Amino acid sequence: MEIIISENPAEASAKAAEAVKMQILAKRSSVLGLATGGTVIGLYGKLAEMCGRGEVSFKKVSTFNLDEYVGMPASDPNSYRSFMEKHLFSKIDVDRSNTHIPDGCAENIRAYCVQYENKIRLCGGIDLQVLGIGSDGHIGFNEPSSSLGSRTRVKTLTEKTRADNSRFFGGDISKVPMHAVTMGIGTILDSREILLLAFGEGKAEAVARMAEGPVTATVPASALQLHPNVKVFLDEPAASKLANKAYYKYVYANKP
Ligand code: GLP
Repeated sequence: MEIIISENPAEASAKAAEAVKMQILAKRSSVLGLATGGTVIGLYGKLAEMCGRGEVSFKKVSTFNLDEYVGMPASDPNSYRSFMEKHLFSKIDVDRSNTHIPDGCAENIRAYCVQYENKIRLCGGIDLQVLGIGSDGHIGFNEPSSSLGSRTRVKTLTEKTRADNSRFFGGDISKVPMHAVTMGIGTILDSREILLLAFGEGKAEAVARMAEGPVTATVPASALQLHPNVKVFLDEPAASKLANKAYYKYVYANKP
């Protein structure tokens, strides 16, 4: 796990955007795994700027989002489809038919989850997966106790996650759905490269447990220790509980 600590979220987002750009420049038809949430908005803004300047094109890129709330129609302003449209898709040259977001309203949701996995496989697998992290250590919506080998399925959200996400629902936790369709941890680990972003003190504990704690289903993000190609982009507050922070900075400053 390569841990890159920046002064602030803007600088960290710019570094992560550079990594996404390099991936697309190396393979125009890259398959990107995408996340939602407050953390990735800056990254998407940088990618939109790069696309606007003609530095990178998403015309041949395919995307697969991690998750969606169960029962949330794509047209709802709180859907992850709406989020992606607002923060990224409407600002880049991606072909909408190549963008995939789990359908939280699928009639047979179990069968749908299998189809979603198959679609990823048919596209050749995910080249680069973007992740945030929940304050309880979740990735996607893989809450604590998720199997480290899990595939796309429905998960029940913790009260903590619903409380964290209630800010997108006018602060009303009762409006936050209880269930979500999410790629599994096994699905995420199949990606060829993973970028995880985390900002703010509220993420410091989860980040330390992810990077320096034991690999455990209690901290789903700790499964990333098993992946050979993970880059973690942090600001100083999110890095504040890392025991080996000085070493990570030293490694980054002396990159061969
Ligand atoms: C959400 C999403 C995750 C996201 C995480 C952090 O619930 N399902 O994919 O990474 O929680 O969200 P935020 O970036 O808003 O803190």
